[in-house]
Amino acid sequence: MNLKEAGIAEGISEVIVTTKSGAGEPDAAPIGVITVTNDENKYFVKLYEGSKTLSNVLETNKLAVNVTDDAVLFVKAAFERLNEVHFSLFHGFPVLKEAKSWIIFDSALIGKRSESGNFLFQLMPNAVKINRKEVKAINRGLNAVIEAAVLATRYAITEDKREKEEMRKKMKLYDAIVEKCGGRREKEAFGILREKNWNLSRISASLSQRHANVQESTNQNSNYYWIEDR
Ligand SMILES: Cc1cc2nc3c(=O)[nH]c(=O)nc-3n(C[C@H](O)[C@H](O)[C@H](O)COP(=O)(O)O)c2cc1C
Repeated sequence: MNLKEAGIAEGISEVIVTTKSGAGEPDAAPIGVITVTNDENKYFVKLYEGSKTLSNVLETNKLAVNVTDDAVLFVKAAFERLNEVHFSLFHGFPVLKEAKSWIIFDSALIGKRSESGNFLFQLMPNAVKINRKEVKAINRGLNAVIEAAVLATRYAITEDKREKEEMRKKMKLYDAIVEKCGGRREKEAFGILREKNWNLSRISASLSQRHANVQESTNQNSNYYWIEDR
């Protein structure tokens, strides 16, 4: 099956995956769906150890891919338990009401990489719904929120100090892009990221001067910097 019409094309598509536990509790998390195109399209996900998504998929062998460009939903799904009002059920399986399209897949575990701790699953589509087809230009603010959300989920588990410092620098760059190019949803999403994952501190004039080389934002409202967690 070719899922291009539903928004899933070659490469890695960032989506919100919904799952349910064996007991029926829904969960949502941003996940990259990998599409490999040869004679036919094949779909995969790599799931890292420790997530609810992984334990649910291992329990039920099913997941739903929800296509959305809502920055706030991405960030909330990454860092919070998404409120039940966001879910609707298709034959008992949770999907997102706001999704532009969704695809329910059966999953088959292909392998586990012990060193990286990730599990690779192949996905076989069994139901597709396209709710909305929209034409939308690329927004750098949205892209920056997605990059920042990926970084933020990794920041907490990274121990290397230099790597963390690099991440903080990148975060400031994404922040500046969101301020410049994002709409209200992107700015709201970045605000949630700040609250959830990073210590935020207003900086004094002297600190501002010291960090001027990495402070790319020109917007007075975003006159802060990401500080090391304590
Ligand atoms: C854009 C984006 C893409 C992500 N892709 C993956 C992925 O492919 N596999 C994965 O295991 N985690 C991925 N993550 C991290 C999970 O979303 C994150 O660990 C989440 O908290 C898991 O939630 P859960 O415990 O409800 O499953 C991604 C995060 C973001 C922001």
